[in-house]
Amino acid sequence: MSKLKQLLSLAELNPAELNDLLNLALSVKQQPHQYSQALAGKSIALIFEKPSLRTRVSFDVGIYKLGGHSVYLDQQNGAMGKRETVADFGANLACWTDAIVARVFSQATLDQLVKASQKPVINALSDWYHPCQALADLLALKERFGNLSKVHLAYVGDGNNVCHSLMIGAALSGMKMTVVTPKGFEPSTQVLEQAKNISAATGAKLVLSSSLSAAEGADALYTDTWLSMGDKADPSVIERTFRPYQINANVMENLAVKYFMHCLPAHREHEVTSDVLDSDASLILQQAENRMHAQNAVLISLFA
Ligand code: CP
Ligand code: NVA
Repeated sequence: MSKLKQLLSLAELNPAELNDLLNLALSVKQQPHQYSQALAGKSIALIFEKPSLRTRVSFDVGIYKLGGHSVYLDQQNGAMGKRETVADFGANLACWTDAIVARVFSQATLDQLVKASQKPVINALSDWYHPCQALADLLALKERFGNLSKVHLAYVGDGNNVCHSLMIGAALSGMKMTVVTPKGFEPSTQVLEQAKNISAATGAKLVLSSSLSAAEGADALYTDTWLSMGDKADPSVIERTFRPYQINANVMENLAVKYFMHCLPAHREHEVTSDVLDSDASLILQQAENRMHAQNAVLISLFA
């Protein structure tokens, strides 16, 4: 297992490193006692500029299970750039902590933290990416299907941070991924290029469409909120634009898809209906549980 320097985007990994991380995450999940001292003596700052349930708790509990210690900085005390600059914030944190986990409005804030702290920084969600989420999701798919290169994942909704990280993760894993978005809500062209370049080497296949029918026959259908945290779009326009892309029991049946995925929090009866969320097809709690195991694999790799 090679030592990770940081995790700002999955694009920092090569296919073998991603595969190693997922295997380590499986091992952490199955034999947690083997890793109970992996972070002994380490303190890790958790900075959140935005709300969180899963990310906050899974990092906090996960670090404890690895024998480490976490310091949570909420939106009052984690408001970087207000009381002091992001650089000053990062440089001071580096005096006491061994790594920084940060959920930020802007990916650029993560770059500033890396530069100022010279410590490993983990992206706990930004405007561009959500790599820890995609790792947990790939782990859930690996548990279901084994070989990821045989999996077809369809993402339906906004071409957002979660979609971006899934695209890169799917490309690295040699998967087929279909991204269905309304016109004007496609993933960024920069991420598309990144994913295409990786796919050329791994044999992954990426399909973009604005038609739900493109998701037909996928192994799993993934959706996320139509309006991400910090997104200033008019909610009524968003609701109208995305309504035809709602995942409900009819859509699952018509597209002949077996599994449903969502990073959560879910907005019930908006992007997905409760009959799908609460059905046997839903992997949402497996994904949520896997957040901790995947992140612990990342943390172990930082200090390997
Ligand atoms: N999926 C996810 O990141 O959840 P939180 O926003 O609750 O952390
Ligand atoms: N795309 C969502 C993910 C929440 C976990 C957001 O950024 O708000």
